[in-house]
Amino acid sequence: MVRARHSFLEQGHYAPLSDHINRLLLESLNPAPKPLRLLDCGCGEGYYTDRLQHTLNDNAPGSDLIGLDISKAAVRQAAKRNPAITWIVASSKSPPLAEHGLDGALCLFAPLESAALHRVLKPGGLLLVATTGPDHLLTLREAIYPEVRRNAFNPTPQLERHFSPVEQEQVQFDFTLEHSEAILQLLAMTPHQWRASAHARQNLANCQQLTIGVDVQLNLYQAR
Ligand SMILES: C[S@@+](CC[C@H](N)C(=O)[O-])C[C@H]1O[C@@H](n2cnc3c(N)ncnc32)[C@H](O)[C@@H]1O
Repeated sequence: MVRARHSFLEQGHYAPLSDHINRLLLESLNPAPKPLRLLDCGCGEGYYTDRLQHTLNDNAPGSDLIGLDISKAAVRQAAKRNPAITWIVASSKSPPLAEHGLDGALCLFAPLESAALHRVLKPGGLLLVATTGPDHLLTLREAIYPEVRRNAFNPTPQLERHFSPVEQEQVQFDFTLEHSEAILQLLAMTPHQWRASAHARQNLANCQQLTIGVDVQLNLYQAR
């Protein structure tokens, strides 16, 4: 999964999403505290963390960025990307970080630990959560399932004890994959990999072109 995620993300199809995340975070942290201290919680193989660090370098030099993930394989891959980021293998349930030391945290498609994130953020610190919207990867899911559920996860009920909602944005765009290898890599970096039947996987392996929609909900919160 880490390898598939790395190979797929490196093709740049999700760069508009990463740019949107960075812009929203920096605009919301303006004026940025100095030094700015941020955590990417559940950073995976570090695609978004790395791009954020480059944006910080240009806009808020001297910032500290930490990438944390429970998967040693993911962090090993992430650490190769960018030595200017502090990479940690740990659970987001108990991040080995000082209390109330961070200005902001991201949780992108990763498990949300409300109390732990609240403990490491400063009061008033920002939390940016990315979740998939109802139409995310719809054409891929239509190729796999006879019936597609268009549910979306709302993180607010789980966070409201510790965080107040600030802003919500929906990011939607399309991209086209031109060969079956890329289509199978995309499948392998999602949980659909484990649910797709052999028949559905074979259909995708025979598919030479697929246009796919990204539908992501960005929710910004402030620590109480
Ligand atoms: C879908 S991936 C998203 C990775 C990355 N944020 C991205 O968007 O590319 C979810 C990540 O959450 C991590 N994860 C799952 N449970 C975790 C936990 N308890 N603590 C830290 N990371 C966790 C997984 O190892 C995985 O890398």
